[in-house]
Amino acid sequence: MTKIFETDLQGKHVVIVGGSSGMGKATAKLSVALGANVTIASRSADKLTAAAAEIGEVKTAPIDMTDEAAVKAWAAQLGTVDHLVISASSAAHGAFAELPTDDLRGMLAAKFIGPYVTAREVLPALEKGGSITFFSGVLSRRPSAGATGLGAVNAAVEALSKGLAQELAGRARVNCISPGMVATEAYDAMPPDARDAMYAVVAESLPVGRIGQADEIAQAVIMAMTNGFLTGAVLDIDGGHLVRG
Ligand SMILES: NC(=O)c1ccc[n+]([C@@H]2O[C@H](COP(=O)([O-])OP(=O)(O)OC[C@H]3O[C@@H](n4cnc5c(N)ncnc54)[C@H](OP(=O)(O)O)[C@@H]3O)[C@@H](O)[C@H]2O)c1
Repeated sequence: MTKIFETDLQGKHVVIVGGSSGMGKATAKLSVALGANVTIASRSADKLTAAAAEIGEVKTAPIDMTDEAAVKAWAAQLGTVDHLVISASSAAHGAFAELPTDDLRGMLAAKFIGPYVTAREVLPALEKGGSITFFSGVLSRRPSAGATGLGAVNAAVEALSKGLAQELAGRARVNCISPGMVATEAYDAMPPDARDAMYAVVAESLPVGRIGQADEIAQAVIMAMTNGFLTGAVLDIDGGHLVRG
């Protein structure tokens, strides 16, 4: 009998790396509302404190996913984990011939190697029947000029998710969320006028006529955590980005 999903997260330990901002924070809020015990992790202790004040009852862990030794030590003392969500990343934009190699390496470290190492180190703590949810993005299959490297890294995250779903068969389910453009703190560094203009252009190009909100992605992450028949999937929550003209 399929359970109603409100009951599925009650008392479960949900760990969200990237939970101090954007879609990770929205997932933390929804998980807490559904009765989960939530741990949010990210680099900045200040961001974690501010996010915790917004989210409510939540544990915080200042951790940099790109620091393997720190991730190992943190994962070893986490206790049991039911669901691991990794929304943390940093992106580097630039034309193919101009993107500095160090920026490419940094993005690979933050968006692919960091999540890989974090999932590997948390795995011993993951309860049988648990889940891992990674984040990619529409550029993996709908690349755009100036973001070729980011698209390739997103594709790597999707391949990691699918491979791991097979490798962990019977042990844990593994899925990947591929968001389209979603209004989050990720765009806070842009001048507001330029950001709003970018949002408007993308919104107009999408079948839904608008960009996404973080809680719409959080809803999909909850589904990935709780739907026992879902594994090896890439969920395109993108307002129709992949089918736009
Ligand atoms: N927003 C979009 O339009 C969009 C579109 C497509 C794909 N995506 C993908 O969706 C995911 C979530 O995006 P978002 O917009 O919600 O991001 P966001 O608001 O920028 O949040 C990113 C989070 O990751 C943390 N973080 C970054 N680097 C980290 C590291 N090395 N170790 C640990 N934590 C780290 C950040 O906190 P600290 O600074 O404290 O570390 C923050 O909590 C990302 O993978 C992003 O690439 C986003």
